[in-house]
Amino acid sequence: MKTYNVAVIPGDGTGPEVTREAVKVLEAAAGKFGFKLEFTHYDFGGDRYLRTGEVLPDSAVEELRKFPAILLGAIGHPQVKPGILEKGILLRLRFELEQYINLRPVKLYDERFCPLKNKKPEDIDFVVVRENNEGLYTGAGGFVFKGTPHEIAVQESINSRRGVERCLRFAFEYARKRRGGQPWRGLKPEDVQAGKKAQLTLCGKTNVLTYAFDLWERTFHEIGEKDYPDVKRDYAHVDATTMWFVKNPEWFDVIVTDNMFGDIITDLGAMIQGGMGIAAGGNLNPEGTSMFEPIGGSAPKYTGQNVINPLAAICAGQMLLDHLGETAAADAIEKAVITTVREKLKDLAAGRMGYSTSEVGDLVAGML
Ligand code: IPM
Ligand code: MN
Repeated sequence: MKTYNVAVIPGDGTGPEVTREAVKVLEAAAGKFGFKLEFTHYDFGGDRYLRTGEVLPDSAVEELRKFPAILLGAIGHPQVKPGILEKGILLRLRFELEQYINLRPVKLYDERFCPLKNKKPEDIDFVVVRENNEGLYTGAGGFVFKGTPHEIAVQESINSRRGVERCLRFAFEYARKRRGGQPWRGLKPEDVQAGKKAQLTLCGKTNVLTYAFDLWERTFHEIGEKDYPDVKRDYAHVDATTMWFVKNPEWFDVIVTDNMFGDIITDLGAMIQGGMGIAAGGNLNPEGTSMFEPIGGSAPKYTGQNVINPLAAICAGQMLLDHLGETAAADAIEKAVITTVREKLKDLAAGRMGYSTSEVGDLVAGML
């Protein structure tokens, strides 16, 4: 029987509760579809840090490197200064494991949970490909005259041709494959006639960030024209992108953007798909270890109450299986999630679902 080794980092706050449900659903899927999952748990997070002073031992990174996939709950602890755990665990793993793509699907499963008027599931179904190793997140920059009245803080956005190109190539390939070759429904007849099958929108700020996005834009058109003629190239400034997420989300198929803009627009994306209770993402190293996570935080105020929505973590598990190549199992999980959302839940928010955290996990696992 095919066996996959998966590392699990439940993390802080409600992370362990939602991760438990994701593991429950993954086990059910493995049983149904005839493969095995071998889970290894790691206790990295705020509690361990407060107990031992250790955020993430060097040996852990090397150990995690041996897994094809990691399931992460949440990182962030109210008694730990912001930045320590986020940078020391989440960002460190994204960087050292070279997870250069952050893939964040924005998909509305039920119009009841969309805050936008008159938008239906078919209107909100796009994917954001966020660059995950560069931009403003590298920590480049520093202080001059710190603590004095004339102090200066510089935070630099790093954009390498290699980093930008590999992200763009991933996005083009992903757009091409997303619907198994079926043309995207938003294409105009003349695009279809011209042989286009998908649309990739570069989200940037070429009118102000004239170095960084000049590199992005040039690379986008250069490789797009040469290697991806079947993908329609589209461009939107980041500010306009946020406007259109609200006004015309149906305009988007696949969006590619830098680390910071990707961080911001995917929170808005999460809201229009029904909130943090349902939004999941994958930190991908297509050649190495990838890490899947619900994109919301650790929600410490709900810790231990069995009220948080585990669907985002379950969807992260679904993405994990898809990444491992267990596509039938992944599709079955998505179907079960959709049925749970449409037929069972009263709301996607913590405490208002009409079910507890573990009951929602049971519902999805049961439907499998
Ligand atoms: C996210 C989070 C992280 C980010 C934080 C916790 C460092 O907001 O995954 O979107 O900024 O990438
Ligand atoms: Mn974020």
